Amino acid sequence: MATKTTVRSNPSTPLSTNKHLLKWVEKMARLTKPARIHWVSGSDEENQTLLDQMVGAGTLTKLNEDLWPGCYYARSDASDVARVEDRTFICSLSKDNAGPTNNWEDPFKMRRKLKGLFQGAMQGRTMYVLAFSMGPVDSPLARIGVQLTDSPYVVVNMRIMARIGLRVFQEIDKGEKRVVPCMHSVGMPLTRGKKDVMWPCNPEKYIVHFPETREIWSYGSGYGGNALLGKKCFALRIASNIARDEGWMAEHMLILGVEDPKGEKTYVAAAFPSACGKTNFAMLIPPKSFKGWKIWTVGDDIAWIKPDAKGELRAINPESGFFGVAPGTSMKTNPNAMLTLQKNSIFTNVALTPEGGVWWEGMTDTPPAECTDWQGKRWTPAIAAETGAKAAHPNARFTAPASQCPTIDPAWEDPAGVPISAIIFGGRRPTTMPLVFQAFNWSTGVYVGATMGSEMTAAAAGTVGKVRRDPMAMLPFCGYHMGDYFRHWIKMQRHLTTTPRIFHVNWFRRGPAGEFLWPGYSENMRVLKWIVDRAHGRAAGRETPIGWMPNYEDLEWKGLPFTKEQFEELQAFDRKQWRQEVIGQEELFIDLHDHLPPEMVYERELLICRL
Ligand code: OXD
Ligand code: MN
Repeated sequence: MATKTTVRSNPSTPLSTNKHLLKWVEKMARLTKPARIHWVSGSDEENQTLLDQMVGAGTLTKLNEDLWPGCYYARSDASDVARVEDRTFICSLSKDNAGPTNNWEDPFKMRRKLKGLFQGAMQGRTMYVLAFSMGPVDSPLARIGVQLTDSPYVVVNMRIMARIGLRVFQEIDKGEKRVVPCMHSVGMPLTRGKKDVMWPCNPEKYIVHFPETREIWSYGSGYGGNALLGKKCFALRIASNIARDEGWMAEHMLILGVEDPKGEKTYVAAAFPSACGKTNFAMLIPPKSFKGWKIWTVGDDIAWIKPDAKGELRAINPESGFFGVAPGTSMKTNPNAMLTLQKNSIFTNVALTPEGGVWWEGMTDTPPAECTDWQGKRWTPAIAAETGAKAAHPNARFTAPASQCPTIDPAWEDPAGVPISAIIFGGRRPTTMPLVFQAFNWSTGVYVGATMGSEMTAAAAGTVGKVRRDPMAMLPFCGYHMGDYFRHWIKMQRHLTTTPRIFHVNWFRRGPAGEFLWPGYSENMRVLKWIVDRAHGRAAGRETPIGWMPNYEDLEWKGLPFTKEQFEELQAFDRKQWRQEVIGQEELFIDLHDHLPPEMVYERELLICRL
């Protein structure tokens, strides 16, 4: 992970000889006017110096070394706590290429705007030159970016989330790979002796992508996906454009390996919308009755998938860390995540305990008697009961090295990636969607992914039961026209000799009293086993109008008292609800109609006929 080098006396000395890179850094420095430039080597010593500097400046708090070794705590500005989708732009040359699901702005206009915003934006600050590789540096699937940023918080987080520093500059100097330029400023220049604040940011935010020139410009935010530009901006929005042009796929998917008692390993990729338990599923622990079964984690958020020379899909996790949602994560819900984040991690917007530890809602059954909440205020369970105040922000995060995950797959950094045998789509559906079904074939599967979504349960008048469509969980992340994205999915099959089987799961179906019908968590293993067996063509199922479904006997029930009647309620296919579902899907088809591949239209017609 870390590159061990001695401390450089002068970090402003360029670490690359690449003329284009040197010129670009110079040009951006002229524009943003930083007080100094720091080429990030990625060494342990450099990282420690940055952490110490941020502790000195009050941006970070070092946690109790005995309890949380190598861990730091940050509290963001209350206005800078999440990705800002309404401030995220895809500035393709033509509006039509961005499609109706993206915010578009004329690239020439946007460039003028950004030039104004970035003019002198880094005054009084250090501009870090951060080279990063998405994917193992030696992987042919990996891609390189250089982020210029005035946020040391971003540098230390990116060091966990991606491979950074000297080894990436060396890769750039070979001149073989195109570099994606990523410009980032928190947008708070320290002009004329202005004092810095704990979390600098700007109320005006712009997260901008230029797909044709493969560029990212981010202004005004220091938080998560807005600022750690390797993640959503590069690995999904820009990479989806690169992938379409080059014949591979950049997907919002976890990757896991299922090992059976005989040692057979099957890899599966799964797309669920944000906040549907991707990290939990990626680190699942099988129930005790599944003796000899093991789940291995390759990634929890993003998969880059490409057909190999034999026509098999292989996937890498382009990231090297987890940027996970803290609230709700506990030794009960996800012990592997808890063990991963115990050391060398950064916590943002959780609560700070008097012992110098961290806490968040759901972490333990009993909250601490007292702590400091994510806004720096005193918090006690009594205050929470009275005011409803949360100790941690609901989008509080941990940034933790993937290598520390107890279930990290031995092949997680294999440059060739891991072979993908099944793809799973899923959402939060209190009604209609059974626990699991298998699509008939690739194009039906693409239709299932394209129409997936989550039902809104917030009791706002008129919205209950309405499905927010989130095709392939890519709604906020597809960097081009969603209709063309479906077309690309359909076309991918032509490059494949073995096509992964496609499934839809729903852990969230509810009964008449609103109760969850399925226990979820570890028990999802039972579904996963059927999926793996189906992928290998050795499990039974029955044909229904929506796809193949397991019979009660086709699932492993040892260790879980779950009756046939319960299973049938959970799997129920209700023709009336499905007719409603197809009508609901129409919205998407109307929005995207002029770019939809004909297969999507035929699949819809066929589904209607079967219903
Ligand atoms: C994430 C998201 O942060 O999907 O991973 O929103
Ligand atoms: Mn995500």
